[in-house]
Amino acid sequence: IKVQEYRPQPFTDFTKEENVKAYQEALAKVRSELVGKHYPLIIDGQRVDTAEKIESRNPCNTDEVVGTTAKATIQDAENALQGAWKAFESWKKWDMDARARILLKAAAILKRRRMEACALMSIEVGKNYAEADVEVAEAIDFLEYYARSAMKYAGFGSSETTWFEGEENGLMSIPLGVGVSISPWNFPCAIFIGMAVAPVVVGNCVIVKPAEDAGLIAGFMMDIMLEAGLPAGVIQFLPGVGKEVGEYLTTHAKTRFITFTGSRAVGLHINEVAAKVQPGQKWIKRVVMELGGKDALIVDETADIETAVTAAAQGAFGFNGQKCSAMSRLIVVDSVYDDVVGQFVERARSLKMGTGEENAPVTAVVNQMSFDKIKSYLELAPSEGQVLLGGEAPGECGGQPGYYIAPTIVGDVQRDARMAQEEIFGPVVTVLRAKDWQDALDIANSTEYGLTGGVISNSRERLEQAREEFEVGNLYFNRKITGAIVGVQPFGGYNMSGTDSKAGGPDYLANFMQLKTVTERW
Ligand code: SER
Repeated sequence: IKVQEYRPQPFTDFTKEENVKAYQEALAKVRSELVGKHYPLIIDGQRVDTAEKIESRNPCNTDEVVGTTAKATIQDAENALQGAWKAFESWKKWDMDARARILLKAAAILKRRRMEACALMSIEVGKNYAEADVEVAEAIDFLEYYARSAMKYAGFGSSETTWFEGEENGLMSIPLGVGVSISPWNFPCAIFIGMAVAPVVVGNCVIVKPAEDAGLIAGFMMDIMLEAGLPAGVIQFLPGVGKEVGEYLTTHAKTRFITFTGSRAVGLHINEVAAKVQPGQKWIKRVVMELGGKDALIVDETADIETAVTAAAQGAFGFNGQKCSAMSRLIVVDSVYDDVVGQFVERARSLKMGTGEENAPVTAVVNQMSFDKIKSYLELAPSEGQVLLGGEAPGECGGQPGYYIAPTIVGDVQRDARMAQEEIFGPVVTVLRAKDWQDALDIANSTEYGLTGGVISNSRERLEQAREEFEVGNLYFNRKITGAIVGVQPFGGYNMSGTDSKAGGPDYLANFMQLKTVTERW
């Protein structure tokens, strides 16, 4: 296949009036063409509808139903699984090039429909313009990057083995079979498509279960995959309830692998059920997990304070802190604590709440469950620290009912407090005071998670120490800790943050393959 070298998509500049105008036009188009739409299941290339439906609501205006998807039954899940195994028989024999072309074609279509995808997410999950734009860029990147990555696994002997006289030896990379991909609502375009196409491009078939809160953008992406020529049964589209069809499929004897991005609690549950061998099961299920984080940014006394405040505000409040990579702990060395925290609070105070469609810096959180959970931490906050900003959950904005939580900063929290240990997944920052640099690093490493982390410092020695000792999968110096770019910053954490599978990294596709060594004596 002839393609130019992979380059990440540039982001759209919304300081330019013409781009803002284009976005607003896309919002109008989406409102007239996509809002109110219903997406059935897609099984073996056929649209299948169900008696029950899943409603997707606008979190910034909960009176509005954005659209609906079908709600898969257990029988639908069984049909999808059987159909995917049938499709696998031919799909696994396709040339790597031919499979990759479908991803490249899908990327080209998505590039043309980029603003529409963005606008749909503004309405469905409350992303502002830049957050939606960065995500659709990431979705295009996943398609482009995995298409190219697949090439290195094509053919016999694609991985290196040592020459041995009198024999031909080589490694073949072969697909695993049929798996289940369960994706989150916080990156419902990029992570949804990345987790679908990575297994598929190397010859597997998958059943994709999108998040219940974001079925429309998933349906939109499925339409693009079909337009790009994806054969029937290769990606089975199965919106449904996690506890029902998710549980059924992850437990099933015929499921070969599971790829999951979501909470620690659900991830550990899936890991447990996947480990239990079912009657008739002849493999150990492979499990790929991206779970939560309690990500920290350390600011020491050598830091440039403006850099620190900007990094903290972007990392904490981008998409309302609803990223596994979000900065939820700010750890500041005592001698600069008042200055840094004071400026951070002032910066955060200027962030206005509003809707995604209005391009507000802070919008509503995704659903009632998130809202209630975050609110419970706001109630806990005064007993665990000093509420420096926010602390309210108004539940409306400008007269519109929505899951609105005010940007909140809680200072002087102890390292073992619940707010310093548990993932909140909202616009709530826990600030911790460290005695000195070493204490700050110890605090940073004091949770069970290990996803992202950052250091704002001008000490070369400390940055080098952090490089070795800061226990996270993605470590950033002198910048924000969110926004990993495909191919540039392979993404994923360890400890309770996941299996460190590194989405958008050079070896990610190996998660979905097994290797066979073949030796022929000449
Ligand atoms: N990849 C995203 C980020 O880096 C999180 O999923 O922010």
